[in-house]
Amino acid sequence: MRAIQIARLDGPSAAELNEIPEPDAAGAVVIEVHAAGVAFPDALQSRGLYQHKPELPYTPGAELAGVVRSAPEGAHVAAGDRVAALTMLSGAMAEVVALPADRVFKLPDTVSFEAGAGLLFNDLTVHCALRTRGRLAPGETVLVHGAAGGIGTSTLRLAPAFGAARTIAVVSSEDKAEIARAAGASDVVLADGFKDSVRELTGGRGVDLILDPVGGDRFTDSLRSLAPGGRLLVVGFTGGDIPTVKVNRLLLNNVDAVGVGWGAWAMTHPGYLAEQWAELEPLLASGAVVPPAPEVYPLERAADAIASLENRSAKGKVVVRVR
Ligand SMILES: NC(=O)c1ccc[n+]([C@@H]2O[C@H](COP(=O)([O-])OP(=O)(O)OC[C@H]3O[C@@H](n4cnc5c(N)ncnc54)[C@H](OP(=O)(O)O)[C@@H]3O)[C@@H](O)[C@H]2O)c1
Repeated sequence: MRAIQIARLDGPSAAELNEIPEPDAAGAVVIEVHAAGVAFPDALQSRGLYQHKPELPYTPGAELAGVVRSAPEGAHVAAGDRVAALTMLSGAMAEVVALPADRVFKLPDTVSFEAGAGLLFNDLTVHCALRTRGRLAPGETVLVHGAAGGIGTSTLRLAPAFGAARTIAVVSSEDKAEIARAAGASDVVLADGFKDSVRELTGGRGVDLILDPVGGDRFTDSLRSLAPGGRLLVVGFTGGDIPTVKVNRLLLNNVDAVGVGWGAWAMTHPGYLAEQWAELEPLLASGAVVPPAPEVYPLERAADAIASLENRSAKGKVVVRVR
């Protein structure tokens, strides 16, 4: 089969299209992959900078969508089903994957393979952040950093369906503001000076929830932008630096800094992925949540697709078309 492989850890440009054997199908759901999602960990892994370090050479890609070729007896999916699936960190950019049944989810007919390939990693992370860890209540205001990225656009799509009354998107440039608006942001502000913009937009009150996949030096201003009882959800560090918290800020304003490690939560809570999908799937099927509208690269250009996250040029979610 055709698959992308990375044989050296010097960045996305090492991603090459090769012929490799199909995976072992024993006991697994075998999927013919139509599209694979690209997420920030793909860029980090290509430099050996992610906590999960696959053996070289490895095939990148944490998520995909395609059609089931075969499934073990008793599985919840069968040959011919359209599905989305999680490799959970590597292996998706290949024509065929073999996965345990609990990582495979039936895709509603309303969702294309390309949208489906860019769905699970971000939407399930954001579901975990807003619902499980962030305790989003109806009527609350949600601010999201890196709002034109994968996690960002997912937050803008999902927060209203989970009850948020208002979303504020933080982006670095005007063209990214357009992407955040298209994903449904109520308001968009620039990262530079966002604290003052938020104060103005909320009449000085601040926001209830902040979802932060960026980290770095905006962290303290995020804490200052929370309303009393507000929660700052720590999701990632695309900005590079891991911030530190002076905990007196938490005490003074009665706010929480909350860690969100979706993968670790799913590993330690059996059945959690299925519970998450049971909440999300009807919202997608009914149209209450629109599927992502990804930027699509051909498989041959997987290196460029991964690089676009690293060099910050990605617009929304990025996927590669496999067949
Ligand atoms: N905790 C979890 O369970 C979990 C799960 C999935 C992903 N994540 C993490 O979430 C983060 C976001 O992932 P993603 O797939 O949404 O990434 P993405 O699509 O590349 O979006 C990240 C955004 O970060 C912003 N950014 C700020 N400084 C940056 C820099 N120096 N380099 C690159 N981007 C920068 C960019 O927006 P602006 O240019 O507008 O600032 C960009 O749109 C990653 O750190 C990922 O590892 C965490």
